Amino acid sequence: MNNEPTKHHRHIRSFVLREGRLTAGQQRAFETVWPEYGIDFLGNRIDLPALFGNHNPIFLEIGFGNGESLAEMAAANPQNNYLGIEVHRPGVGHLLIKIEELGLTNLRVIRHDAVEVLKKSIADSSLDGVFLFFPDPWHKKRHHKRRILQQEFVQRLARVIRPGGFFHAATDWEHYAEHMMTVLSHETEYFENSAGGGNYTPRPDYRPLTKFERRGQRLGHGVWDLVFRRR
Ligand SMILES: C[S@@+](CC[C@H](N)C(=O)[O-])C[C@H]1O[C@@H](n2cnc3c(N)ncnc32)[C@H](O)[C@@H]1O
Repeated sequence: MNNEPTKHHRHIRSFVLREGRLTAGQQRAFETVWPEYGIDFLGNRIDLPALFGNHNPIFLEIGFGNGESLAEMAAANPQNNYLGIEVHRPGVGHLLIKIEELGLTNLRVIRHDAVEVLKKSIADSSLDGVFLFFPDPWHKKRHHKRRILQQEFVQRLARVIRPGGFFHAATDWEHYAEHMMTVLSHETEYFENSAGGGNYTPRPDYRPLTKFERRGQRLGHGVWDLVFRRR
C-alpha cells in the first residue's frame, strides 16, 4: 500500500503505513488465528451475519490500534458481534493474540483502509454502531485533508449504520473535536447529536480507556466524545 495517487485512484489516505516488525507471537497469530478470524479484503460486499453465524447486533471499530479496547468490548458483550478494521500489521497481530487468549468468537478483523472497506464491503444499514477512537489528528493545517472524518466519510457512515444505530468518535485533540462536531452537525438529515446540539458526551461506560487516551492523560490532554444517533 502506498500514498501515491494512481491512475484510477486519487483518494487521500488517512494513514502513512510504517509497518515495523512483527513479534514472533504476532507472526504466529497471523498463521494460526488469522485464517479463522481475519477477513481478506477482496473489494466485494461481505455477508456479515453469515460470517458471524448469527443475527446479533454488529459494531465496527475503525482504526483499533493494538485492539485492546476492541477485545475488551467484545469480551464484555458476548451478545454482540464486533468487526475491527486497522491497517497496521503489528496492531492487527496484537489483536489476533488477544482473540486467542480471551477465546473470543464474536470478533472479526479486516486489515485494510477503512474508507475503502466502508465503500465496497459493508452493506447498507448493516451496522448497529461505529466507533472511531482517537483517529490520527494530523495536527498541521496542510495535513488536515488527511483526517479520516470528513463529510464524505460521514455520508458513508450514514449509509452503513441502521436507523436508530449510532456513531461514536473520541479524540484528545480539541481542534479535531471541533472539526468533528461541525462536520457531524451538518448532516442533520442523517444524524442527531445524542447529547443535544453542539454538546459533547461524557465517556460512556462501554468505552474502555485506549492506549492513546492513557498516553494523552499522562500528557494532561482533555478528551472529547461525540455520539451521534442515525435518524
Ligand atoms: C492514533 S491511532 C489510535 C489507535 C486506537 N484507536 C487507540 O485509541 O489507541 C489511529 C489508528 O488508526 C489507524 N488508521 C488510520 N487511518 C486508517 C484507515 N483509513 N483505515 C484503517 N485504519 C486506519 C492507524 O493505523 C492507527 O493505528
